[in-house]
Amino acid sequence: MCGIIGYCGSKPGVPIVIEALQCLEYRGYDSAGIASLCDGRLLIKKDAGKVGEVIEKHDLISLPGSIVMGHTRWATHGAVTQLNAHPHSDCRNRIAVVHNGIIENSAQLREELAGAGHVFRSETDTEVIAHLLEDEAGNGRSLEQAVLSIAPRLEGSYAFLAASLDDPGKIVGTRRDNPLIVGVDAPDYYISSDALAFSRYTNRVMNLEDNDVVVLAAGAIEFLDKQGNRLSRQVRQLDQVWSESSKGNYQHFMLKEIMEEAQVFDQAADQDGRLFTEIALDILRARQVIITACGTSRYAALVGRYLFSKVGKKFCDVVMASEFGYFADSVDKNTVVVTVSQSGETADVVDGVKAARAADARVISIINRPNSILADLSHHVIHLNCGPEVAVPATKSFLSQLAIFYLLSFSMVNDFDGATARLSALNTAIAGVLDSNKSELITLSHELKDRNDFYYIARGINFAIASEGALKLKEVSYIHAEGMPAGELKHGTLALVEQGTPVVVICPADYTFAETLSNAIEAKSRGAFIIGVSDRESNVYDSWISIPEVDELLYPMIAVVPLHLLAYYLAISRGYDPDRPRNLAKSVTVK
Ligand code: F6R
Repeated sequence: MCGIIGYCGSKPGVPIVIEALQCLEYRGYDSAGIASLCDGRLLIKKDAGKVGEVIEKHDLISLPGSIVMGHTRWATHGAVTQLNAHPHSDCRNRIAVVHNGIIENSAQLREELAGAGHVFRSETDTEVIAHLLEDEAGNGRSLEQAVLSIAPRLEGSYAFLAASLDDPGKIVGTRRDNPLIVGVDAPDYYISSDALAFSRYTNRVMNLEDNDVVVLAAGAIEFLDKQGNRLSRQVRQLDQVWSESSKGNYQHFMLKEIMEEAQVFDQAADQDGRLFTEIALDILRARQVIITACGTSRYAALVGRYLFSKVGKKFCDVVMASEFGYFADSVDKNTVVVTVSQSGETADVVDGVKAARAADARVISIINRPNSILADLSHHVIHLNCGPEVAVPATKSFLSQLAIFYLLSFSMVNDFDGATARLSALNTAIAGVLDSNKSELITLSHELKDRNDFYYIARGINFAIASEGALKLKEVSYIHAEGMPAGELKHGTLALVEQGTPVVVICPADYTFAETLSNAIEAKSRGAFIIGVSDRESNVYDSWISIPEVDELLYPMIAVVPLHLLAYYLAISRGYDPDRPRNLAKSVTVK
């Protein structure tokens, strides 16, 4: 959460940083700001509001300078106000800092610094960094020496950039447990939480490892270890696909990414079959297998659990990543921990993986973004290959995660190739679902936009799809929704169903059909408006979202598609921006 960007080079820096902030907005969009070092002055402009609003209100584009830092915020410490927006500076306004992460001992440091006469202007944890640097940076010490000397005093996780009028011409960055990546196009250098921010200019990147300090100046770059010794770090080429982040002709990234659900399977299945066999064997041999993830990724894991059990006859458990630590006592070297994370940097997941590694467990991560923190912590990494997902709600990455679990489970029975072919055949079916249900879903969204509660029910492998449909609806339309196993409805939640309450029923025409339908009838008898997502029509449905007949184990991948689209259209009908839901951010790098 929070996106940071720095630019040092030969071009005017502000337009580059503004463009980068727009790319980074998925990481937080409460406030934004820019600091520029120019002609012996430190210019800072910042405010609460979305990046576009702050740019316009403060005419950011008119700022001069070729050494520029920017920040887009997701508030943790301190309200969403102009004073709490980044960049933050020291007492003399000579040092500027942008930060992503949480300084856990900031209260104690703030007390010490205030006691020594420092004057704080914000409520943020970040501001302590600027004041600590102020104390260290004087007396002829370079900015990088100051950064090196304060880093050990900071507890928690961070990636921050600093620039100073007392050591001008450079940006210094460092990180611990938060992402930071350098873009190289000498004499121009970029540094950001995400390579997407500068991918328009360069695909050549250098990764920072934890505690590395990097010094960027126009035409020069230097990496230092935590003792200040020079390090050599390799330049790598990023995959081109990570440059594609435009909305094209779509009104929103969410809609574009839902439409891309019709193409994800070929990319997801473009994998090394031998690696899948190796991982499948690890899973089969393990004493216990725990899958850990958050939010939508956890729902993919729940489908994965059914697949492992049905196909590989391997039982495993799914533990919410924020709860994983509380089970760590039973994790050992005979445990395989599978993590699922689109971003590869969700703090709860990273924490769980660290606990698993400490217990000698084997860690396999299923992630989308390359160069992620989780990738570095895992024994094996499986890439989703679905390209950048820019909208905050996860959509196409969920389909890719389902595909990976499908491939893994069939690798357990030596049928990776068969699974690949079956997945590939789904692309056309999904394109058909998107096309044929669009107008019905738009009509439904207008009809139901003022309802207060939705319930989603399903059985077996589709139960997690009900939960995913409900999560997506809450996230983008702000309507309360719950997903649950269909048989569970009558154990309490049915009390909430009244005249007109929408109940979405995922009802495959298989051995679960009759029982699921009878749960729908129970709701309908209490006045529910039944939306059937099914390959078989029924007069129980008040609205039928027709999907093609597919094998039981592929049904979740088809059934979820109209649910994503329904959530999207409901957000639009209610006048909300589904790409940037309130209070949320795409990468959740705080616990
Ligand atoms: C929902 C959503 C979130 C994420 C969750 C985990 O649409 O996007 O629930 O799924 O924050 O994120 P990753 O997969 O990046 O670990």
